[in-house]
Amino acid sequence: MTIPIKSKDGILRMREACAIAATVLEHLKTMVRPGITTQDLEEAGRDYIARLGAKSACFGYQHGSRRYPAHTCISVNEEVVHGIPSFRRILRDGDIVSLDVVVWHQGYVGDNACTVPVGQITAANEKLLLVTREALDRGIKQALVGNRIGDVSAAIQQHVESNGFSVVRDMVGHGVGSSMHEPPEIPNFGRRGSGDKIKPGMTLAIEPMVNFGGYRTKTLSDGWTVVTADGTASAHFEHTVLTTEEGPEVLTKPRCSDIASYHISA
Ligand code: MF3
Ligand code: CO
Repeated sequence: MTIPIKSKDGILRMREACAIAATVLEHLKTMVRPGITTQDLEEAGRDYIARLGAKSACFGYQHGSRRYPAHTCISVNEEVVHGIPSFRRILRDGDIVSLDVVVWHQGYVGDNACTVPVGQITAANEKLLLVTREALDRGIKQALVGNRIGDVSAAIQQHVESNGFSVVRDMVGHGVGSSMHEPPEIPNFGRRGSGDKIKPGMTLAIEPMVNFGGYRTKTLSDGWTVVTADGTASAHFEHTVLTTEEGPEVLTKPRCSDIASYHISA
């Protein structure tokens, strides 16, 4: 499968979808505190996505015979990704929570995620968040025209493992565009110089998922929630990145004007 190269118009639309996804994620981050439920985050995400004229790419997303039932993915502590928001799940001081926002807008998808602390967290979890965030930055820096996908993968794996954590193998980053998942797959582990060549006009969702303990995961009986097999904490940071001759450009940047207008009219 060849990797789609976006046209000028496609890139404009990707910019728009990604700005919306980032603006919503930014807002959800500011809501996180002890005592709120993951359903509170879901409802705020759902409403903000609608207000910005977009649609959730998660809601109704089909995997096998199941459809994802919410507009956001909210994953707490040992939950790696695809946690289903619930009014029963109350965030507590010391938790870490991963927020994943994926939107559709004018035929294009923007995808981003981050993990944030709830109140005061342990130094060990602080380090897990920092290293995962840094691993994403290192991966993005390798998304250079002329490099290969394996250069992105290897940079992420090297940073994570040299800090004593492990990268999830069961799920990978991905191309993103007129659908949520396009070629190429972007593993968070691999060999420098391997994989497809990076060309200008690719839009890539780079997303290290990093476990405190072992890399193994399992899926809960709800069919969606992925947790670490050993029950240790997990972090997830993700950006959608455009490759250009001038270097990688992060498209999932929040738009201040949207944040302001939401808060004034909300
Ligand atoms: N960012 C996630 C991904 O790339 C979003 C999944 S949405 C869900 O897979 F519907 F699958 F939950
Ligand atoms: Co993704």
